[in-house]
Amino acid sequence: MTTAHLPSAFLWGAATAGHQNDGGDTMSDTTFLENVEPTVFREPAGVGCGTWERWPEDLDLAAEMGFSAFRFSVEWARVEPERGVIDRSALDRYDAMVDRCLALGMSPVVTFSHFTAPHWFACRGGWPHADAPADFAAFCEVVMDRIGDRVAMAVTLNEPNLPRILEAVLPAQAWGGIAATLDAADRAAGVERYRAGNVVRREELDLVEAGFERAHIAARDAIRARRPELPVGMSLAVMDEVALPGGEARREAIIDVRYARWYRLVEGDDFLGVQNYERAQYGPEGVVVPEGGETNEMGSPVEPESLAGAVRMCHAATGLPILVSEHGLATADDDQRARFIPAALEGLDKAMADGVPVLGYLHWTLLDDFEWIAGYSAHFGLVEVDRETLERRPKPSSRVYAAEIRARRGAPAEQPVR
Ligand code: BGC
Repeated sequence: MTTAHLPSAFLWGAATAGHQNDGGDTMSDTTFLENVEPTVFREPAGVGCGTWERWPEDLDLAAEMGFSAFRFSVEWARVEPERGVIDRSALDRYDAMVDRCLALGMSPVVTFSHFTAPHWFACRGGWPHADAPADFAAFCEVVMDRIGDRVAMAVTLNEPNLPRILEAVLPAQAWGGIAATLDAADRAAGVERYRAGNVVRREELDLVEAGFERAHIAARDAIRARRPELPVGMSLAVMDEVALPGGEARREAIIDVRYARWYRLVEGDDFLGVQNYERAQYGPEGVVVPEGGETNEMGSPVEPESLAGAVRMCHAATGLPILVSEHGLATADDDQRARFIPAALEGLDKAMADGVPVLGYLHWTLLDDFEWIAGYSAHFGLVEVDRETLERRPKPSSRVYAAEIRARRGAPAEQPVR
């Protein structure tokens, strides 16, 4: 039985992740993989957006948009750069961030693992290792002891099902690139199997997923033991899976592969984080890609209605309250984003009017940041970042999003205290 206190007001905000923003994350597995030869990463994250130092400015930008929540991840490699060695100064920084969020009227939503893990953890064999759940839970306890009393929601793992979704999406060549990167990491680290969370060998998908499952349970229990009323869950990558006439069986089969084990796993969680970017449509012959419509900068169709579809599907499957823990668009054309956000939110309004319990909407993301293997070539931000000076410039879509929030939050009196 859950004793969680779900947020009483809808959470409006943005989602971010440490490695993609902070810079200088030198002890993480992803930094290591970005720097081996060959690597599937377009470029290393390097200085990121400089958020490790510039976070007060970023929180101010977020609050100016009228946010009532802010999602960030705690970087395990910063907190525990070597196994069992805790860097208190890293915790100080998260502590200060949480206080500043609260002072700005934003509820902190914390992710305990947003794909990255410490280098020592990956060297040891990553999530499948027998000690991984206990080590992850111990890290969660350290974080909880420091900031757990002031956060609003806890996300254990970010999108542990993403590698599985990529299975059908990535071309064979990319899988070759992933294997070559991990082989290079084995050699460079001098270990038998270097394993990361979001760069996974195709033949190890099952193994890594099973490790994630154990880690989620261990982390959830640890977080609850520290603070039983804190809502805890995980987030999933969710495509809006749509059957065209005759495509129903294919849709069911794909749901089985991508979500079924996670739907079972989250039974007993307090909420489910849904992260939606795209829609997939299935006909009798397989995936059908609509032609002629708008596309994002990665070449996929832009489908604002996909958000509501994903949210409805996950709630129907799990019965859990849903937090939209990510949703966004990769585009260098900000007008496209400015049209996309209101259209997606309209669909979400309808889903809620139909009775789907949605706890909040966190747009991905605040800044144009490091988009994993695509490096800095993708633009998901509400705010542009000058790659030379790291100066932040809010885009027009940030004002559109702020207006959407204002319209739904009601009178100015409800705005967060600044
Ligand atoms: C991840 C983010 C990523 C975003 C856009 C999600 O899969 O959680 O880290 O940047 O999608 O691709």
